[in-house]
Amino acid sequence: MTDFLNEYCLHSHTCGQLRAADAGTSVVLTGWVWHNRDHGGLIFIDLRDRDGYTQCVFDPDQVGAEDFAKAEHLGREWVVQVHGTVRPRIPEAVNPNMVTGEIEVLAASLTVLNTSVTPPFAIEDGIETDELTRMKWRYLDIRRPEMYKNLHLRHTVTTAMRNALNARGFLEVETPILTKSTPEGARDYIVPSRPNPGKFYALPQSPQLLKQMLMVAGVERYYQIARCFRDEDLRADRQPEFTQVDIEMSFVAQDDVMNMMEDALAEVLAAAGITHPFPLPRMEYRESLERFGNDRPDTRFGMELVDLTGIVKDCGFKVFSAAAQAGGVVKAINAKGAGDWSRGEIDKLADIAAENGAKGMAWIAFTSDGQEKSPIIKFFTEEEFAAMKEALDVQPGDLVLFAADTFEVATAVLSALRLHMGQALGLAGVGHSLLWVVNFPLFKYDKEEKRYAAEHHPFTRALDSDLDKIEDAPLECGSYSYDLVMDGFEIGGGTIRIHTAELQRRVLHRIGLTDEEINEKFGYLIEALSLGAPPHGGIALGLDRLVMLLAGKDSIRDVIAFPKTSSASDPMTAAPDHVSQRQLKEVGLRLL
Ligand code: AMO
Ligand code: AMP
Repeated sequence: MTDFLNEYCLHSHTCGQLRAADAGTSVVLTGWVWHNRDHGGLIFIDLRDRDGYTQCVFDPDQVGAEDFAKAEHLGREWVVQVHGTVRPRIPEAVNPNMVTGEIEVLAASLTVLNTSVTPPFAIEDGIETDELTRMKWRYLDIRRPEMYKNLHLRHTVTTAMRNALNARGFLEVETPILTKSTPEGARDYIVPSRPNPGKFYALPQSPQLLKQMLMVAGVERYYQIARCFRDEDLRADRQPEFTQVDIEMSFVAQDDVMNMMEDALAEVLAAAGITHPFPLPRMEYRESLERFGNDRPDTRFGMELVDLTGIVKDCGFKVFSAAAQAGGVVKAINAKGAGDWSRGEIDKLADIAAENGAKGMAWIAFTSDGQEKSPIIKFFTEEEFAAMKEALDVQPGDLVLFAADTFEVATAVLSALRLHMGQALGLAGVGHSLLWVVNFPLFKYDKEEKRYAAEHHPFTRALDSDLDKIEDAPLECGSYSYDLVMDGFEIGGGTIRIHTAELQRRVLHRIGLTDEEINEKFGYLIEALSLGAPPHGGIALGLDRLVMLLAGKDSIRDVIAFPKTSSASDPMTAAPDHVSQRQLKEVGLRLL
């Protein structure tokens, strides 16, 4: 299986390859000294490479005195080459947990290819070394089997994706890294240009406009495993530079892009050894907010949001009735299995609610011995209380958590509480669930900037039936848009694009750009759209997030070879770093 790894190199076999059937074969292995033990005159080393590890035995009767002495003094992570013969282990020494556990290599000679100082942490799986240390010595971290496995999985996914797209007539095209701003909602990374003093390139937040140019160019089906750069607050699923599988297609409608993506994804999941039912469910954006409180629902467990506004709109509990009468909502989740939680535990949940904008968190605990505990029960009539219990399907052992606020705040609060309770009750995190969330609004209102902004990006096409709303009722204007959601993460997003100059101008005006700004920032786009742009649309998958979920990890840093810390720095190379006065002067900059 791994024979191709034995060509063009200093070994005849990998360290994960030899089996009982190889007994008697002369072999040459190379690798790192993982463990070494001296057992009454015999020296055992576990020799490790990326493929596995093999036990090598040095017997003073079988190996020269000089090589035996070298074997006695080997240190951890020394790099060696061993010539020897495969032999079956004695029955008591067979290790069924190790793929090479039936054999060992009896050494005939040993060459030390390099020594190593003591590594700063053990090259083992399951270590508890802090992440900063792992990142500072990332090459040692990747020497660990579990990290190598993650990179291998990433390679498998990328290869399968390329194969799936190649088979469907997509052309892989590279687009520039030094380019002009492509707005995707983050700050740009900017690079000064020496020959153009005072001018800057922006690193692409995505290749969005360039792939649209390729459609105008007639490429018809494009993809790129594209690096994107966004200066934004970092999280476990966000890096300042990350990778998209970026896709664009011409002469398509929304369903064409989604169906193609599903077919390609099915092949990718199969290559990664994951089975998932296809076709994927499609949920309206609004329904996702109503039922799960966000637009990337983790549908692996229930605990859906229940709307109680109609039931409590006239109730005696002012917090609820006032919210309902002010045009807001009263919603709740039923955390089954938490009904016996202590007051202290419930109070901690109120902190989570507050962090997400709640003014308070009313609750009712239905203990498993049939009691009802809560400061608010007294405010409800029997009918109201019975109707709430029915709507929430309440049984003994349930804990109901409420949010009364605007739709926006109440859903955000309950979304956070639902995910927290899902974790706390051990409901989340089992298996995988993929679905599409579709038909996002075209615009949102940016309260800070006091203007409309694009929900996805401003190149997204309005629903044909909603074109009139762009000027008149922007927040009601729908769009041809689709996000791919996996296990509660947005792993991809795409839209059908605007392909006429006239509509593109209207949308850019609506988000507050003047004609002058449109010409300056997007003049080349408008011009291209007026030079025979075909209808087109596409999608970009967040490769890091997809691989993270397939690898069962909590952070995309675990599936990126050289990631950055939460302050966007690299502890290994110490980037970003100062530059000399001369370099600054050359690009016409002076530091404040
Ligand atoms: P969007 O901005 O939704 O769309 O990005 C597509 C996908 O990229 C991933 N992603 C990230 N992954 C890691 N770190 C980040 N900082 C980060 N930001 C985004 C997400 C997301 O779903 N041009 C459009 C796509 C299109 O319309 O074709 C775009 O970039 O998984
Ligand atoms: P109060 O009458 O303000 O003391 O609140 C009574 C209960 O309602 C407390 O448990 C509060 O945490 C809760 N509460 C207050 N405001 C809200 C709200 N907007 N949504 C849900 N619960 C709330």
